Amino acid sequence: MPRTEFISTGFYVPERVVKNDEFTQWMDTSDEWIKTRTGIAERHWVADHQATSDLAVEATKLALDRAGMQASDLDCIVFATLAGDYMMPGAGVFLQRKLGITNIPCLDVRNQCSGFLYGLSVADAWIRTGQYQRVLLVGAEIQSIGLDLTTRGRDMAVLFGDGAGVAILGPTSDEGRGVLSTHIFADGRYAELLWANLGGSANRPRLSAQQLEQGMHFPQMQGREVFKHASTRMPASVMESLTVNGLTTNDIKVLIPHQANMRISEMVQKQLGLRDDQVYNNIDRYGNTTAASIPIALDECVQSGKLKRGDLLVLTAFGSGFTWGSAAIRW
Ligand code: COA
Repeated sequence: MPRTEFISTGFYVPERVVKNDEFTQWMDTSDEWIKTRTGIAERHWVADHQATSDLAVEATKLALDRAGMQASDLDCIVFATLAGDYMMPGAGVFLQRKLGITNIPCLDVRNQCSGFLYGLSVADAWIRTGQYQRVLLVGAEIQSIGLDLTTRGRDMAVLFGDGAGVAILGPTSDEGRGVLSTHIFADGRYAELLWANLGGSANRPRLSAQQLEQGMHFPQMQGREVFKHASTRMPASVMESLTVNGLTTNDIKVLIPHQANMRISEMVQKQLGLRDDQVYNNIDRYGNTTAASIPIALDECVQSGKLKRGDLLVLTAFGSGFTWGSAAIRW
C-alpha cells in the first residue's frame, strides 16, 4: 500500500488583527493577564462578509497554486470545523461550490480542535486503500462571532481566533516518506467540560429567547480540567505514535502541538523532554484557531524551511469531546 504524502499546504487568516488591549473595552481583563496565562498577544477576526468556507477557499487556492493543480484535480474534500457556515449542510459543500467543482464527495468532520487529525486519519486510510488520489484536507474556523464579549465570557473570549489551513494529500511511491501512522482517541465522559449547549436535539425547546439571554449559546469551559487533560493526553499520544514506529523523541525534528495555550504547549514539551527548537508554536499571533491551528502552523513550518524533506514531523491535538490524537509523518 502506498503511504500518504503532503503534496502542498496553505493557510489564510483574515486581515483584522485584534490585540489583547482591545478586549479591555468590552470586559474586565488585561494584556498582562492574557499574555501570562495563555501566551496570546493577538489574533485575527473575520470581516462581516466572511463565512468559514470563505477562509478555506483562500487557503485552498494557495495550496493548489503551490501544487501546480486545479480545483478539478481534487477528488475528495474533508472539512474539519466546529463553525460551519450554516447549521446544515456542512461547510464542505460550500467550499466545493466556491471552488467551482462538482461530483466529488465532501466529508464534514466535527471533532473541534482534534478535527484536522481526525480528518487526516480518514484521508490517510482512503489514500492508502486507493479510494482517492487527491484529498483536500481542511481545518477552518470562525470563533470570533460566537464569543461572549463580556466579563462573564472572558475566560473563553480571549483565547480564540479565526483562520483556515489546508493540505492536499496524495499517495507517494517513495517508501521512506509520508504519514507513518495516525492515532485518534475520545472520552465522552468529559463532553460537558468544553461545549456549547444550544441548538442541538437534546434541548427542549431547541432554541428560546430565555436560553439566549442566559448565554447558553456561547461555548463554556472548565479551563483547569481542560488544561490538565490536554497537557497529559497530548504527550501520551505523541509517545504512542513514536513507539509504534520504533522512534524516540530524539528523532523528532518538529512537533506541532495544537495551539490551545502556550502553557499547555510548554507542559507537553517538558513532559516529552524536547528542546525549544523541536516544538513549533505560533499562538502568540493567532490565538487558538481550533481545527485550523495545526495546518496553519504546519504551513508556516514548510514555508519558512523549518521542515525539510525527510524530517520527522509529529502532530498532536486535544479538544472538546474530549478528543485527542497524534500523527507521525516522515516529511
Ligand atoms: N482576564 C482576566 N481575568 C480572567 C480572565 C481574563 N480573560 N479569564 C478568567 N479570569 C479570572 C477568573 O475569573 C479567575 O478569577 P477569580 O480568581 O477572581 O475567580 C482568575 O482569572 C483565575 O481563573 P482560572 O480559571 O483559575 O485561571 P487559570 O490559570 O486556570 O487560566 C485559562 C484560565 C482559561 C487560561 C486556563 O484554564 C486554560 O488555558 N485552560 C485550557 C483552555 C484551553 O486550552 N481550551 C481549549 C482547549 S482545545
